[in-house]
Amino acid sequence: MKLILLGAPGAGKGTQAEILCKELKIPTISTGNILRAAIKAGTEIGKQVEAYMNAGKLVPDDVIISIIQDRVKADDCKNGYILDGVPRTIAQAEALEKVGIEFDNVISIEISDETIMDRMSGRRVCETCGASYHLVAVPPKVAGVCDKCGGKLIQRHDDEPETVKERLEVYHRETEPLKDFYKKRGLLKTVENQPTVAETSEVILRAIGR
Ligand code: AP5
Repeated sequence: MKLILLGAPGAGKGTQAEILCKELKIPTISTGNILRAAIKAGTEIGKQVEAYMNAGKLVPDDVIISIIQDRVKADDCKNGYILDGVPRTIAQAEALEKVGIEFDNVISIEISDETIMDRMSGRRVCETCGASYHLVAVPPKVAGVCDKCGGKLIQRHDDEPETVKERLEVYHRETEPLKDFYKKRGLLKTVENQPTVAETSEVILRAIGR
């Protein structure tokens, strides 16, 4: 199973990817998490991408394409994978096609910009493993501490309201056209965001025939 999760910033792609990877027993590849880890480790790629991410802009396509092409060659990807947050431009999607990567399903999580703006102020992420929480909807067992690894929960730099607005604009301009791209290939399934994480997982699993 090779699956793409599309959706606006904060639509719940990371949250759903974590649940789906357990259900489907395949890894999640999140370019956002890979890039944040590179920044934290101070690598060349991290230095190259930090300003783009903090400003809510997309990182250049060539950086993303080479990260993905390398990552999908790893052993844990041989039975499939879930792409979270990639592709994000037509150029990235075409690059994946060009190297012969084909997908079984492309799920687009639909949610209004207003809901996103409300939601982002409550998001907290683990600075160690990247797991995502919400102060009200998905609270950790102990305030400020990651359930999975015990890491510290922090607010992301790019979750400031002005940066979220910019990210939404970038999404509508650069990423939303991918829905048409995959619709033409018969792969697109749109799923409405549900009031809870569990209900959203159920509709996604139904959409992919599980
Ligand atoms: P990335 O990390 O991919 O961010 P994003 O796409 O903007 O998505 P988010 O991680 O913000 O949200 P999400 O949809 O995963 O939602 P989550 O599950 O956390 O990218 C960051 C940056 O990296 C980009 O801006 C860009 O600079 C760069 N980048 C990354 N990939 C790139 C690419 N391919 N090309 C170029 N640049 C790239 O959920 C959000 C919140 O809602 C959480 O608090 C969660 O607990 C809560 N929640 C989730 N579902 C529900 C629900 N059903 N009900 C209530 N609350 C819910």
